[in-house]
Amino acid sequence: MCGIVGYTGSKDAYPILIKGLQRLEYRGYDSAGVALMNDKTTLHKCKGKVVDLQNHIGSGLTTGTAGIGHTRWATHGEPNDVNAHPHTSMSGDIVLIHNGIIENYDSVRKELIHRGYTFHSETDTEVLVNLIEEIKKSEACSLSEAIRKALNEVIGAYAIVVMSNSEPGTLVAAKKSSPLVIGIGPDKDYYLASDATPIVEYTKNVVYLEDGEIAEIIPGKDLKLFTIQKQNVTPYIQELELQLEQLEKSGYDHFMLKEIYEQPRSVRDSLRGRLNLAAGLVHLGGMADYEQKLLNANRITIVACGTSWHAGLVGEYLIEDLARIPVEVEYASEFRYRNPIITEKDVVIAISQSGETADTLAALELAKSKGATILGICNVVGSTISRTTHGGSYTHAGPEIGVASTKAFTSQVTVLSLLALMLGNKKGSIERSKFLRLLYGLNEIPEKIERALQTNDLVELISAKFKDASNFLYLGRGYCFPVALEGALKLKEISYIHAEGYPAAEMKHGPIALIDEEMPVVVIATKGPSYEKVVSNIQEVKARKGVLIAIVTEGDTQVKEMADYTIEIPETDEIFSPLVASVPLQLLSYHIAVMRECNVDQPRNLAKSVTVE
Ligand code: M6R
Repeated sequence: MCGIVGYTGSKDAYPILIKGLQRLEYRGYDSAGVALMNDKTTLHKCKGKVVDLQNHIGSGLTTGTAGIGHTRWATHGEPNDVNAHPHTSMSGDIVLIHNGIIENYDSVRKELIHRGYTFHSETDTEVLVNLIEEIKKSEACSLSEAIRKALNEVIGAYAIVVMSNSEPGTLVAAKKSSPLVIGIGPDKDYYLASDATPIVEYTKNVVYLEDGEIAEIIPGKDLKLFTIQKQNVTPYIQELELQLEQLEKSGYDHFMLKEIYEQPRSVRDSLRGRLNLAAGLVHLGGMADYEQKLLNANRITIVACGTSWHAGLVGEYLIEDLARIPVEVEYASEFRYRNPIITEKDVVIAISQSGETADTLAALELAKSKGATILGICNVVGSTISRTTHGGSYTHAGPEIGVASTKAFTSQVTVLSLLALMLGNKKGSIERSKFLRLLYGLNEIPEKIERALQTNDLVELISAKFKDASNFLYLGRGYCFPVALEGALKLKEISYIHAEGYPAAEMKHGPIALIDEEMPVVVIATKGPSYEKVVSNIQEVKARKGVLIAIVTEGDTQVKEMADYTIEIPETDEIFSPLVASVPLQLLSYHIAVMRECNVDQPRNLAKSVTVE
């Protein structure tokens, strides 16, 4: 979703803003712009990518030691030059960038039109900048005070950064439900961004703005924070753990491929310090304090979206299987609007790579308001969800830049495996010998992912055969049903091929009608309790001339005889099969997308972190 950057200090702002916008490209966007402060504001913006913005600016004026920049993911109004941010107030005095949605923009707009304001764009943002101007003029107050008053009049979500010709060098930032980070440089120069990725190369000292806080930022002076109720706040400065190298492609053609190949490392990092083979135990720090709550919960509800929801489904199977605690997995966007029954005896776990997904955050807040214990499984350290929850565990996968989630999924499933094992062991619902066998099995997963990655050349050959298909069906049973859903999502989002994931046995209740010689069917048929049943489903596909691509366990012969293509992966205990079986499916979607010349890392219409509902 929209990306925000800002800088004020003694350096040239333009290169810092452009580099920052490039770092935020992974979030997904359709237009870009910058505003630079000289004696007065210089504004450049256009539809398209950051490179289009640079071409559009050409040799235009880019001087200034303060500025703001934005990548816009369209909500109100189509992606075009006029709707792109920054937006200026009618007089040209104030310039503003915004991530979020102002819900009551229409009524505010009408009121401003009544007072003589005219609007050029279709955006809610232009309404906000003019409201600030109106208050600043009519009440003759400072920029920060006008912003504070304006924010008391608007309903919705926002992260904003604002500059005014009347206070050159000053940036004012504010946040509610959309993230904003402020980096403090050694000379009290300031770097602002939607996440820490544009900031890390300049400073490691950051302040995460909290909801309802406003920051007045003047270079050379201390950061001043206050709330929209005018209470002063002492900034809490944190040190970033992020490394700059983690944000580079390191020789890979795409971030997605790099992240697929990082999985042996990322899963190892998710396990590190948590799985103790010598002592035969699992210790999941941030969850351990809530162990009794989890064990005694009426029910555990997992809320998430997209890939994280698929990881949640695996979590449901794991926790019910090993710990015998009832689990429900909900789409966060449905949960928050369907009046769910939640009490203080419930535990709600949010799963989110970014930790910023608006629906997941809102679902958590709803559960919290009903007295539930809320926990998080997030990847981004310091993200809003990780700060909102009572406790939780980080996945430690490292920054995921490709819009299509890969290593985040396997790390989420790893943490859920640890959680289920920890609870099952504590509760005594798993025999000790089985518990120890599973611990050793989980510990071997990174090495098995490494072996699964060796299927890459074969997967590339298979991809070439199917790159022009219009539809795909993905089938799996038990623990591999969520893998089928995830495989289909990966293909859809980066190659724009329609794909459906289905429980293999459910196929005959509808999707079987789609099967003919044109339909590639990907079946996850690894060894496990439902293997024979999946074999029967494969026969049903073959009988209707479907083209079969099967993911099988190394050494399999039965499915190999039936399938058109087989991809062998190492054997694991069934409960860990999603961690290995998802790897060739990630590679399949990657290669097909590359062959179709799709923008793998930034697929059309998608955003990495969905910060609007
Ligand atoms: O950051 P989150 O895990 O909360 O994001 C949830 C979804 O938006 C995300 O998983 C999305 O489905 C990905 N594009 C999938 O690859």
